[in-house]
Amino acid sequence: MPETLVIPVDPLHPDPARVAQAAAVIRAGELVAFPTETVYGLGANALDEAAVERIFAAKERPAADPLIVHIAAPEELEQIVAEVPYAAWRLAERFWPGPLTLVLPKGTAIPAAVCAGGKTVAVRMPAHAIPLALIRAAGVPIAAPSANRFSRPSPTTAQHVLDDLAGRVEIILDGGPTPIGVESTVLDLTADPPTVLRPGGLSLEALRAVLPTVTVTRRYLALDTVEGAASPGMLLKHYSPRAPLYLYSGPPEAITAALRNEALRRAAEGERAGVLIFDEDEARLAGAAAAISLLGPRGDLDQAAARLFAALRELDARGVDAILACDVEPAGAGLAIHDRLLRAAEGKVVLVG
Ligand code: TXA
Ligand code: MG
Repeated sequence: MPETLVIPVDPLHPDPARVAQAAAVIRAGELVAFPTETVYGLGANALDEAAVERIFAAKERPAADPLIVHIAAPEELEQIVAEVPYAAWRLAERFWPGPLTLVLPKGTAIPAAVCAGGKTVAVRMPAHAIPLALIRAAGVPIAAPSANRFSRPSPTTAQHVLDDLAGRVEIILDGGPTPIGVESTVLDLTADPPTVLRPGGLSLEALRAVLPTVTVTRRYLALDTVEGAASPGMLLKHYSPRAPLYLYSGPPEAITAALRNEALRRAAEGERAGVLIFDEDEARLAGAAAAISLLGPRGDLDQAAARLFAALRELDARGVDAILACDVEPAGAGLAIHDRLLRAAEGKVVLVG
């Protein structure tokens, strides 16, 4: 494969000529990475099995982990799925375009590789002008997982994509940092009651306002193989930075005190800890010999979500020996953040206070 071409594109008003160049690559069966409102995706023609297989190869992703099909209008659901239940139309009307992925019975047009051989397909309409223009210009739905190497944090900038996939993707459309920063909420509508398989950019509370019966899978900790997971994205080791991550849970003051002690203890042993904390905690970590990465003010969990993956990558880039992260309340936007931190920690949770 030739070198990866990074093309800057205005995220609000994408230049049609640049989009057309990327659309031609999609139609040729090759790969294009693009921003969405959640994270960057690694896209291929969802109707072309060989193109879809290139995604798995580029990411080094197990073939058992199915992809999300991206569409540019709710009506396109009918080409992808076998039947559209009433709940799907209602959710699409309320939340599309947006960070909600619906799992539905698979239609015949979608090759088996997209769905990892299963009977269901995941679909979403992204709230971002670049993928919408790309899907329309290509004239096909686009299958796209997050554009990271398997088990690395999802990319929220074009540079993250390049860091993971240089030479493995033809074009990266660089539309700047992605606004939401965590992946879409995956809702299985084939389950009864409808079940959130992955909390994400759309809160559980917002979903329940439309579908009060929605429940959420809580079995993350028991799953350790791709085959065993209801959604393979529930794999614990899925958002991992390179350094081991320890998740500190408890009252904020107790957490900062514990982080400080642990950073100093590691420093005494010649190690350097990275701490992932809120702005308010920074002063209390002063002099603790830690690399500090900030999530923003504690009260702004949307901002924390937007910064999370970049912060994990940044701490890795600074070569820390361990990342000590403070947990958040698992409600609203905090549920997805808590989920990603918990997975990154692979069970290494420290209860304090
Ligand atoms: O925000 C997002 O969802 C981003 C952007 C690019 O759209 N995409 C993304 O894709 O995060 P990926 O492949 O990294 O995560 C898709 C998740 C995985 O947890 C996968 O297991 C699950 O959706 N999934 C896909 N198809 C499924 C299916 N048919 N049944 C159950 N889970 C499915
Ligand atoms: Mg992913």
